Amino acid sequence: MAWLSVTGLAVTGGILGCGVVEIPDGVVYPLRSNPLINLEKAPATAPPAFPPPGKPEVSLRWLADQGVAILNPADLDSHEWGKAWRDEVNTFLIGQFGTPAKPRVGNEGSAAAAIGKLSTSLNLAPAVLERGSKQYRRLCLHCHGLGGEGAGATSGWLNPLPRDFRQGEFKFISTAEHKLETGNQPLKARPRRVDILRTLHQGLDGTSMPSFALLAEEDIQALASYTLHLSIRGEVEYWALYYALRQDTETIKAIEKDPKKEAQARTARFLAGALEWEDPEADVEDFVAKTKDKLLTAGMEKLLDRLLREYAAADKNPIQPMADPYGDAPTTSQSLANGLKIFQVQCVNCHAGYGRQSALRFDNWGGVVRPANLTTPVYKGGRRPVDLYYRIFRGIPPCGMPKANLQDGDPARQAWDLVRFLLAIPYPETLPPEIRQQIHGGAKQ
Ligand code: HEC
Ligand code: HEC
Repeated sequence: MAWLSVTGLAVTGGILGCGVVEIPDGVVYPLRSNPLINLEKAPATAPPAFPPPGKPEVSLRWLADQGVAILNPADLDSHEWGKAWRDEVNTFLIGQFGTPAKPRVGNEGSAAAAIGKLSTSLNLAPAVLERGSKQYRRLCLHCHGLGGEGAGATSGWLNPLPRDFRQGEFKFISTAEHKLETGNQPLKARPRRVDILRTLHQGLDGTSMPSFALLAEEDIQALASYTLHLSIRGEVEYWALYYALRQDTETIKAIEKDPKKEAQARTARFLAGALEWEDPEADVEDFVAKTKDKLLTAGMEKLLDRLLREYAAADKNPIQPMADPYGDAPTTSQSLANGLKIFQVQCVNCHAGYGRQSALRFDNWGGVVRPANLTTPVYKGGRRPVDLYYRIFRGIPPCGMPKANLQDGDPARQAWDLVRFLLAIPYPETLPPEIRQQIHGGAKQ
């Protein structure tokens, strides 16, 4: 745990105004040790409360009580092959992502040509990451933690918790959904670079995530790149550990057939996941035969390549908002009535009482989140009409908020009716009397 005290000192230096936060070369990102969860479908029962301050792990216990699998990396110790698996993951991560003092994405080795090219187009060059890493230790580490685990020294007191970047999931994105040309699997919701930049410039209103707008633009850019570095590193680690630990029926069957070959069976499942995203017909056995050894490493390389391509694709694939049919005209009562109607069908389930009485939900990190109270004009992802348009169009996937269903009739009108309605909810005086009555009772302010 030597790195803990070292970073502690370094951060103090930064806070006291030394400006630059150096970190010794020997400090490495710790391999993930906290539990992994993967919420494929929403748990049946809502969480009873927010976890108490300093005890975020309580919500994992609530999930475990509902039968959700909580995978603990420490369980690797109980397997003969566990240490070798962990070592292979660690060696790969250090090789491809470096250390906090010398961060990078990709290396000069084998499949790196394509990876190197992608990481340049994503602005992940080592010099940029090194600058980002220094700023991160000064400004972000106390909340988001050294490896982006969201558990920095300040985090225990915050609600919502600082983000754990290591699942590669982001809430406030403006990327259009799209499918791969080669396969049939839609790309995961990755943020565009401008989404991360927006978060850094504006902060997330209503949370402790501050605005960093006063930094030099070059530092903000470097911080965005470093956030990607931590997210991509963390996600490779996440899936490599997930497949070592998960207990799905197919893996259990393969292990029962030949218990001595558990590591091989698990590696094959991991490879299938890494290969089939692009080509649903991918021949895993053929890949295994050609690769011979270091299969897990080959799988992680594929996964890294995939993640870089997904982030690059997100940048090229923004949501293009449909033209607002009302243009600059003031919002009409009819538009608000239309918005209210859609809201009552698609949104009140979660945003009960327009969000005043929302029931809590589990999010994809195993934490607890409350569907926003829409009667106060505070939006984490920004308050411009287009920000609300993005939320409606993309949903907030890691929180289970679906995109709105705007299939019937005139989608552009429906989308902008909903945006106009959302923008008006907090201001009773702007609402026609019958809608005001419905949302605010008699109150005019
Ligand atoms: C005081 C604590 C705090 C500090 C300091 C902080 N953050 Fe955050 N950050 C948060 C919280 C809390 C959230 C999550 C809010 C939520 O999920 O509702 C967050 C979320 C984020 C997100 C995710 C946005 C999304 O779309 O999901 C990014 C990116 C981010 N922070 C980057 C940074 C960077 C980079 C720094 C340093 C320059 C930083 N943060 C400093 C608390 C902090
Ligand atoms: C399955 C539950 C669910 C449904 C259905 C749902 N939401 Fe949400 N919504 C959430 C959750 C959870 C959050 C809070 C996310 C957070 O704070 O991290 C949220 C947040 C929001 C926000 C705040 C965004 C921000 O930037 O802070 C808006 C606006 C919103 N929802 C609008 C809608 C609209 C409009 C609909 C219907 C078309 C809808 N929601 C349907 C769960 C839901």
